[in-house]
This record gives sequence, C-alpha cells and structure tokens, in this order.
Amino acid sequence: MRATIVGAGAIAHAHASALAELAEHDGAPAVETTHVVDLDLDRARAFADQHGIAGVATDVEALLAAGDVDVLHICTPPSAHFATAAAALRAGVHVVLEKPPVLSLAQLDELVALEAASSAQLTVIVQHRFGHGAVQLRSLLADGALGRPLVAVCNTLWFRDAEYFAAPWRGRWDTEGGGPTMGHGIHQFDLLLSILGPWTDVTAVAARQARDTDTEDVSMALVRFESGAMASIVNSVVSPSQVSEIRIDTEAATVALTHLYGYTDEDWTFTPAPGREEAAALWRPDPTALPSGHLAQLLPTYRALAQGAPLPVTSADARRTLELAAAIYRSAFTGRPVAAGEIGADDAFARSMDGTGAPWGPAWAPVSAGVPG
Ligand SMILES: NC(=O)c1ccc[n+]([C@@H]2O[C@H](COP(=O)([O-])OP(=O)(O)OC[C@H]3O[C@@H](n4cnc5c(N)ncnc54)[C@H](O)[C@@H]3O)[C@@H](O)[C@H]2O)c1
Repeated sequence: MRATIVGAGAIAHAHASALAELAEHDGAPAVETTHVVDLDLDRARAFADQHGIAGVATDVEALLAAGDVDVLHICTPPSAHFATAAAALRAGVHVVLEKPPVLSLAQLDELVALEAASSAQLTVIVQHRFGHGAVQLRSLLADGALGRPLVAVCNTLWFRDAEYFAAPWRGRWDTEGGGPTMGHGIHQFDLLLSILGPWTDVTAVAARQARDTDTEDVSMALVRFESGAMASIVNSVVSPSQVSEIRIDTEAATVALTHLYGYTDEDWTFTPAPGREEAAALWRPDPTALPSGHLAQLLPTYRALAQGAPLPVTSADARRTLELAAAIYRSAFTGRPVAAGEIGADDAFARSMDGTGAPWGPAWAPVSAGVPG
C-alpha cells in the first residue's frame, strides 16, 4: 500500500516512524510511504530526507488526482483536516486523521456522509486506546469479570506556556477547534469512552484561567454512562505538575493508569476490592506488548485495511468522542446539562465548538436574567 503524509510537523514523525516499523510485525501489509506534503516545501524536503521518503509535494489534491495514494495520513493543524479528508474520501483514498478530527460535529457528519459514499474508510488517531492495559481492561469489563463499573476519574493535567500558544493556529476556535477539551484531554476521555461505552449526559464548566487564548484553558465535566457509571473529567493546560490519569472503580477492583503522553503495562495498577482478592489474578501484564502509541494503532489499522475489514477506530467511534467534547462546551457555556443526541444538526454547538459563544468571548451574551444560554 502507498501511504502519503500531509503536514510535515511535529506529530508527522510519529506516523513516519510507525509506518517504517510496520513491516517488522506479523500480518502487516507491505506499506511504502511514497510522499510527504507540506505547504512549506523546505520542511517537506527535510522531513523526506530524515525518513527516506522519495516524493515531496506542496499540493495534496494533485497527488490524489494522480492516483498516487492509497492511504493519506493527515497531520496538518486541525483547520486543514476537513478539506483534505473530504478530498481523499472523494478520491477513494483511505484517511488516517490526527485528532481532533475536525473543528465541529457538522464537519464530521459531512465526512461520515462522504465515507458512506466512498470505497475508502476514515479513522482517527486515538493511540491510547491501543496499549495492552486498555485492551485487557475492556475485555475484562466486557466479560463481566470485574462486575459493574461504578466511578471513574479522567484527568489531563498538562502545562502549555505562552510560547506554545504563540503558534498562530493554537488557542483559537477557528483553527484549533477548542482548548484542552479538544486538543489535549480528548486523548484521555476518548480512552475512557472506549472503556466505559456510551455516555448519556454531561454537566460541565470551563474557564480561561491563565492563558491568552480565545478558547478555554481548563474544563471540568461530570459524565454519566448507559452502564450507570459516573465519571469526572478534567482537562487543563495550566497545571505545572503534569499527569494523564484514568482510574476506574468497579465492583471487583480499582484499575488505574498514570502516565503522561503514552504508557506501558508498568503504568497500570490493579487493586482488588476487599473480599474480591481472587480478582488480582485476572490482571496479567504483558512485557512484550507495544506501548500505547501510533504503531500500536497503525498496526491493527493496516491489517484491517489489507483485509478490507472495518477499522479498529471507526468514524462512528470518533463521533461519540467529538460529541462529548461539543456537549462539554454546550453545558459549560449554557449552564445546563446536555444529553447524548441532544445536539442536533441545527444546534450552534454542532456548527462550532464555541456555539453561542464562550462566556469570556465577545460573542457571548446571556439570553435570560442570570442564566447564560
Ligand atoms: N496524536 C497525538 O498524540 C498528537 C500530538 C500532537 C499533535 N497532534 C495533532 O496533529 C496535528 C498536527 O499537529 P503538529 O503539532 O504536528 O503541528 P505542526 O504545526 O508541528 O505541523 C503542522 C504542519 O502542517 C503544515 N501544513 C499546514 N497546513 C497545511 C496544508 N493545508 N497542507 C499541507 N501542509 C500543511 C505546516 O506547514 C506544518 O509543517 C494536529 O491536529 C494536532 O492536534 C496529535
């Protein structure tokens, strides 16, 4: 299969390295990264030299039109994701899209429609679903071995300084789509959703605490799930002691993950409930497993592509996570809980994540006395 990477910036290196490593693993198809595309040709050239890629270009649509691409890895800033992914799907080219997939639910719904009409599939990079600990936890919960999930905590407490936000596309609704809810915590709460299943409703707050951004720099949400489980989710980019963590308390055990940008089995702990000590034997670390990361996701993704099978992260999976992000913003900005499915196509929060406007932004105005809406 011929892969092309568009956007030769920071995260593109993780894609190029993982693509080069695929061949070392059983069942992976032969994949060649034939081109790298960037608006900045010098950057594309330097990237191509570093990764041994033969082709460089500035215009991805010309490559698609020439029929030179089987799989397009989109690693541009979020504002370019929609148009590039749409062009690929129209050309029958599979899309591996970096998070956040697009700027709004409306854009994702358009891509889902294009995918349905295309021979190609769309997937989104959410690499933390693919570490062995997460795979094992999902399987134990599905088997009922851990009983019902009851309570969960999902924290993304990161630190991003003013220099980070100096990149022109960061911290803006129209180019990044949101703050740490869309750009940072989305990894952790996507993993939470992959473990706990469908969410039913969310109550959230958000604020701009310390950064000179249009978007929030902190959000906090209380989420309920169809299973009856409840979770708190915190997304921050103003937290000097950085950590990414998920903790799930079930009837049989507490299963907890503490890491920063990726994990192995050593980053998980398993604590059986009193009287359920036998459950400890269920948790079996695998020292040979890949760490969570792009390779761990791309390996099953390319195996599925080679077999014509559904991808391990479908566009429907990605939509559930993006819908939760939209619902967090809607709840935070209107002061009301939001139910899954409530944000319809006509909703301001379907069209853009800031919807009717952030309470700190120029567009915001309360619609009724004391209740922002
Ligand atoms: N999965 C992860 O862990 C992870 C980590 C970091 C970033 N990301 C995501 O990856 C994406 C890129 O982030 P980054 O930090 O690598 O950005 P970056 O700014 O380092 O690189 C983006 C590159 O895209 C190029 N570009 C911009 N518009 C383009 C267009 N229309 N066509 C071709 N090239 C274009 C830029 O010139 C730049 O070289 C974002 O969506 C970000 O959220 C994901």
